[in-house]
Amino acid sequence: MSKPITSSLGETIPLVPPIYQSSVYTIPDLDALDAIMNDGELGFIYARDAHPNAKRLAALLAKDEAAQWGIITGSGMAAISAILLATMQQGQRILASNRLYGRTVQLFDKELPRFGVTADFVDCNELGAVEAALKKKPRLLFVETMSNPLLRVVDIAALAKMAHDHGTLLVVDNTFATPVLTKPMELGADFVMESLTKMIAGHSDVTLGFVGANDTEVLPAITATSSIWGLSSNPFDCWLAERGLATLELRMRAACANAAKLADWLAEQSCVARVWYPGRDDHPDHELASRILCRPSPLRGSGVGDEETLFGNMLCFELSGGREAVNRFLHTAPGIPFSPSLGHSTTTLSHPATTSHRYVSPAERKRQDITDGLIRLSVGVESLERIQEEMTKGM
Ligand SMILES: Cc1ncc(COP(=O)(O)O)c(C=O)c1O
Repeated sequence: MSKPITSSLGETIPLVPPIYQSSVYTIPDLDALDAIMNDGELGFIYARDAHPNAKRLAALLAKDEAAQWGIITGSGMAAISAILLATMQQGQRILASNRLYGRTVQLFDKELPRFGVTADFVDCNELGAVEAALKKKPRLLFVETMSNPLLRVVDIAALAKMAHDHGTLLVVDNTFATPVLTKPMELGADFVMESLTKMIAGHSDVTLGFVGANDTEVLPAITATSSIWGLSSNPFDCWLAERGLATLELRMRAACANAAKLADWLAEQSCVARVWYPGRDDHPDHELASRILCRPSPLRGSGVGDEETLFGNMLCFELSGGREAVNRFLHTAPGIPFSPSLGHSTTTLSHPATTSHRYVSPAERKRQDITDGLIRLSVGVESLERIQEEMTKGM
């Protein structure tokens, strides 16, 4: 952790960390420069390489994710890119879940082949199919703890064991779960990554990502990759994300409680054809979710409400009237803003078919049950009554 600047403040240090809004640092002499270059703990030189706000945030998140180390990147996609660029070579393969965020699919399917890396996609809820696909010895297996958008949950511990048996590293995108619901590193993942843009920063005013891992040998490669490919973060975003992180657990607990009740309420509405929420026993992965998502894992031991079961703040529901019904809902219930992201403090919605999965082929969307009537809700912490009152207008 960087040494606090005390020279102009006597013995006092600010309770709230300063924003080090500087792209470069001043270095006393060449010996100091050498010392910093040889030991990153001694100071900072250039913000694209490292800066105090990212360093603080990375240390906090690594602790929350039960990882030995962490780095902050300029976005969630930059976090995925940093892992790929630091670990993969031309001629290698990546095996990925066939239910992922649309841009991640594009990265694997369209971008990686340009660099000589082949991507295969597999249903990670079918462990036999994963076992068969691992025979090709992919370098990485990539999954989302809870998939975007239909919240399919994967068995991280089982996948980690299978991957390791084949010499493959497991990378888990934990964005929809957050470390409040599950900590993939404790279940055997080799890398965990998060889009901090979502629940962790929590106020829709930040674009950032995080990579965490235990293997200290890859840390220099990931740090260098992040700087060389320009994947780094900016200080103000890190400062905001640190502030968001302080309330993550409280927000998640409140939002998860709202989501659970809202899912049941939506299932009773006549215009709703189907609800997808892992906390409901009609979700295909309810049993698995109950095992891996509900473990009480309070951040930094706050212990608040350990007995609650948490299935996440995300849910999907399908309006019977398809695209037209969705448009009608958007016009009649504007208090639930159509904002194609997630993790805001209040409830927002998205339409996966035209946003996150827009560039996925219609056939693939059909396979994944991403229909034109499907709405994805990111449930917030406002009162449940207020959410229901607004949603009723759109029903
Ligand atoms: C599951 C998941 N992973 C990664 C990302 C990418 O994160 P970012 O937008 O911060 O690059 C997203 C964005 O929506 C996402 O939903």
